Amino acid sequence: MLHYRETVRDLMDDDIFSSVYASHKLPKYKMPEKESDPRVVYRIIADELMLDGNSRQNLATFCQTWLEDEVIALMKLSIDKNLVDKDEYPQTAEIERRSVHILADLWNAPDAGNAMGTSTTGSSEAAMLGGMALLWKWREKQKAKGKPIDNPNIVTGPVQICWHKFTRYWDIELREIPMEGDRYIMNAAEAVKRCDENTIAVVPTLGVTFTGQFEPVKEVSNALDQLQKDTGLDIPIHVDAASGGFVAPFLYPDLEWDFRLPRVKSINASGHKFGLAPLGVGWLLWHNQENLPEDLIFRVNYLGGNMPDFALNFSRPGGQVISQYYNYLRLGREGYHKVHALCRDIAMYTAGEIGKLGPFEIIYDGSDGIPALSWKIKDGANPGFNLFDLADRLRTRGWLVPAYSMPANRQDLIVQRILVRHGSSWDLSYLFINDYRDALAYFKKHPVSRPLTKEEAGGFSH
Ligand SMILES: Cc1ncc(COP(=O)(O)O)c(C=O)c1O
Repeated sequence: MLHYRETVRDLMDDDIFSSVYASHKLPKYKMPEKESDPRVVYRIIADELMLDGNSRQNLATFCQTWLEDEVIALMKLSIDKNLVDKDEYPQTAEIERRSVHILADLWNAPDAGNAMGTSTTGSSEAAMLGGMALLWKWREKQKAKGKPIDNPNIVTGPVQICWHKFTRYWDIELREIPMEGDRYIMNAAEAVKRCDENTIAVVPTLGVTFTGQFEPVKEVSNALDQLQKDTGLDIPIHVDAASGGFVAPFLYPDLEWDFRLPRVKSINASGHKFGLAPLGVGWLLWHNQENLPEDLIFRVNYLGGNMPDFALNFSRPGGQVISQYYNYLRLGREGYHKVHALCRDIAMYTAGEIGKLGPFEIIYDGSDGIPALSWKIKDGANPGFNLFDLADRLRTRGWLVPAYSMPANRQDLIVQRILVRHGSSWDLSYLFINDYRDALAYFKKHPVSRPLTKEEAGGFSH
């Protein structure tokens, strides 16, 4: 027995790479027959993950890539808690409810005490749920008038793929306003001219995915008021504030885009973007209870209690919601303002520096939407590279700044875009600009000119 123990001790002292466990190859596409040492398996997987990009240098993502130690500790504390078990984890449920109230207040709901809302896995789930509520309400309205309910449509600007999914999954006509010339977002006239009695909603985006700009929610709302006066059509607005919902209240508190406008019936936002929570949380709020059809709420009692459930998922991790709440308390309005204002300043500085380099024209400079910037090669310029080449070159220094083509009707336009997020610093931005300059110098010495591949020229993909 002693001898056996000694053998184990020997193995425990083994160097992780030269241990007997590490000396054979583990299968990759089928489950191995036998167990393995956790240290070795952990190391194999952790080493494989080294081949991923460095998330902090991923300037393409809207999502959080820097998190405070306290957030990581709270995530650890709640890794075993299922958000749906509201009877078993009543404090987690209470924190979710408080978070809805905080958002209702932040988004100027008329009576924050009666806010209606839910957390979701992200804005995509929130858009799906918000869209369903709009569809249900429209059907109710049509039925009451004895009108057909088989041909609904929804009007959007150039939207994120989640709205394409929503309309395809629910068989709704998507009336997506195309970009034209230098107009990359919806405007009121374009929105209103696509509305009719089958329009379930108009969806402006606060922080358009392709550029970072805010669509003019108030202008659209005013135009829909006029449409109602002229025709009787009463069309609600849902704001996709995936990014802007956590930016506008702090950087542009006077901008009226939210529940201050009575026509705005629901809003979605991603907690894991400018909400500063870790990946996996979104929010959906309604102006008031009336906007969420009772028919969509399920009441379950098999977890104890009688819990209303309105979500596409059932089980969900609780940590992201708790971390979101932590951020509210930790930062307050002042802290969110400071974080986002710094990001905006860095975005504007970076846009200025890229503009000075010569061959580029800035499309969005970060000054009045989300902290981001986007740019293109000037019309007619032939600098010896395209933005895809430049994106590849930047990867040699670890920067991930993909180039992409715009959606209809500007598929001809190739841009690069940077999201400036919490965790960006002046120092990192100087390093980035230096590397961008170096990449240009490289192409001056080694010009490339190749036609775009079909994929490169083929429209935006996520
Ligand atoms: C405007 C907009 N809406 C919705 C989404 C989808 O959000 P999520 O990734 O949280 O599902 C995004 C993501 O980038 C977005 O930019």
